[in-house]
Amino acid sequence: MADIFEKVMKNMGPLGAHIKEAHGYFTFPKLEGEIGPKMIFNGKEKLNWSLNNYLGLANHPEVRKADAEAAATYGMAYPMGARMMSGNSNPHEQLEKELAAFVGKEDAILLNFGYQGVLSIIDAMVDRHDVIVYDAESHACIVDGVRLHAGHRFQFKHNDMESCEKQLQRATRLVEKSGGGIFVITEGVFGMSGNQGNLKGIVELKKKYKFRLFIDDAHGFGTMGKTGAGTAEEQGVTNEIDLLFSTFAKSMASIGAFVAGPKAILDYLRYNLRSQIYAKSLPMPLVIGALKRLELIRTRPELKENLWKIVNALQSGLRKAGFEIGTTSTPVTPVVLNGTVAESTHLTFDLRENFDIFCSIVVYPVIPKGQIILRLIPTAVHTLEDVDRTIKAFTEIKNNLSAGKYNHDKLMNAAL
Ligand SMILES: Cc1ncc(COP(=O)(O)O)c(C=O)c1O
Repeated sequence: MADIFEKVMKNMGPLGAHIKEAHGYFTFPKLEGEIGPKMIFNGKEKLNWSLNNYLGLANHPEVRKADAEAAATYGMAYPMGARMMSGNSNPHEQLEKELAAFVGKEDAILLNFGYQGVLSIIDAMVDRHDVIVYDAESHACIVDGVRLHAGHRFQFKHNDMESCEKQLQRATRLVEKSGGGIFVITEGVFGMSGNQGNLKGIVELKKKYKFRLFIDDAHGFGTMGKTGAGTAEEQGVTNEIDLLFSTFAKSMASIGAFVAGPKAILDYLRYNLRSQIYAKSLPMPLVIGALKRLELIRTRPELKENLWKIVNALQSGLRKAGFEIGTTSTPVTPVVLNGTVAESTHLTFDLRENFDIFCSIVVYPVIPKGQIILRLIPTAVHTLEDVDRTIKAFTEIKNNLSAGKYNHDKLMNAAL
């Protein structure tokens, strides 16, 4: 018989395995100071490209004022209890109304966290007779929601409509027997590649197959579409998206999330969404703060314009300088380099310590062996000088990498 504590200490998991070398630097780093493009890391200012503060709202003075005033008025507790029992308020309902109107849906429900909300929405919408069809590169919250499903689930190749159609055919055959339905799930913007989900393509398949479509637009809300309403607006398919989710953790620079759709379906979710029914409602400062953020997104188009000015300069500059940035059509900017995991650590150290640039790195096993992705998130508060400085630094880093300067053995020999 095993002891549970002994078991987990023997296998710390794929990321936990690197705790000794990585903790505090590559993982769990501490970015200090005001949130923005310049933050302190390891006691020194770095140019920071690692936060999803797309519109720069985290530190917007009007946002900070609204947050502070709401906290002073209400404290962090009010309202106590779950929404259904004792935790409802007019501002909670007002925010739901305004979010629904902004994304072009009839109704919306607030969620305390995006991850838990998505899990719970999937859990509430399907039963064992239903079939889920979902994109293979879906975020962990979708994957984990699908894991809760007692019925069949079919993955289609990322954004591949032929594969999606094949899975819809399989699903259709099953539900014709079971009497269930089909729930298709994808994302508006994929947070690693920056690819937009092929919403238009999936919507087109509605002409041939019967299903309901749920999208996670965490990265698209505030950044995509004419008004910033998201990727569905960008692709002109708002009416065909049946349930639309986004989090407050990105463009809104806060905590919380929402799902929007037809009122009758959201009423069902209000009374069946376990992540909300069995959890305390969002504290008032988060609700009032979200109302202010939404007002700014609606009324200050210059925030999104600034974001896209930086996105376009960064992405076209990187491409011109010969960098591979994949197929992004959104602000998410992955810079793909070729190298080993060991080289990625030396390269990141050089970038942070000698070029004073901080960004996220992604390596095997998240992406194929031999690739290193430096993931840049441009924001409305970066400047064109930040872009130039970064492209110059990246060019040097890439040259060093090609010249074998981050080769682990070489570096160790040189240090001896
Ligand atoms: C695509 C996507 N969905 C959902 C979430 C989870 O949202 P939250 O941080 O509100 O739990 C994230 C990350 O924040 C995300 O990137």
